[in-house]
Amino acid sequence: MSDNRVPAEYMKMDIADAQRFDQKVKENFMPAFPSVARQIIEDYGILEGICIDVGCGSALMAIELCKRSNLRIYGSEIVKSICQVAYKNIESEGLRDRIIPILSNAYNLPFKSESADFVISRGSYHCWRDKPRVLREIYRVLKEGGIGLVGGGFGKYVTNNELDRMIALRDKSLKDDAKAYRAPDKLKEVIREAGISNFRIIYDKTGLWAEIKK
Ligand SMILES: C[S@@+](CC[C@H](N)C(=O)[O-])C[C@H]1O[C@@H](n2cnc3c(N)ncnc32)[C@H](O)[C@@H]1O
Repeated sequence: MSDNRVPAEYMKMDIADAQRFDQKVKENFMPAFPSVARQIIEDYGILEGICIDVGCGSALMAIELCKRSNLRIYGSEIVKSICQVAYKNIESEGLRDRIIPILSNAYNLPFKSESADFVISRGSYHCWRDKPRVLREIYRVLKEGGIGLVGGGFGKYVTNNELDRMIALRDKSLKDDAKAYRAPDKLKEVIREAGISNFRIIYDKTGLWAEIKK
């Protein structure tokens, strides 16, 4: 049977924990969000339509993507307190009408099939025990012609110092789970297991991504 549990350290977070989580992500990884968002817009030119952010956390990625496009972004986030912090971040940027976090599990995305032009999932992949299942969900919600980007990159617009610092902090905080972002062959295997054939693995010094095309 499929294992759809979520790491316990996330599930037990109350609102104070979620605020600390958000603070830490901002202190440690903030340069990654504008960098990845800028690269996405340049590489894929996706400026309109529906985007889904799987494991959106406190919505920092969604906010940066939203600022650079006309996308309407739905987030899937399993932890209620993190969702609440995401709402606060979105509200303080004045983006309430364009970013909608939804308390939900990536194993059963609450979106219709073929509804998304773009799916992003950054830094959540290591949490999924049944990775092929989430990838199948991502593929299901993508429109024909849509693109999915799943992984843990920092984007090419960070400085070398920022990159080294973020990689070191990621490795320290994720410990063994950080290996997921250094395993391109495993990512390839997982995607194949999900039954997806049109994809490309991108693995360079700025991180690991799977680019999926439907
Ligand atoms: C390390 S954070 C990354 C957050 C954000 N994407 C970023 O780049 O900062 C991973 C997030 O994925 C969420 N998550 C983990 N498993 C999930 C699942 N099965 N469904 C939805 N969200 C999940 C966690 O609660 C957490 O907020």
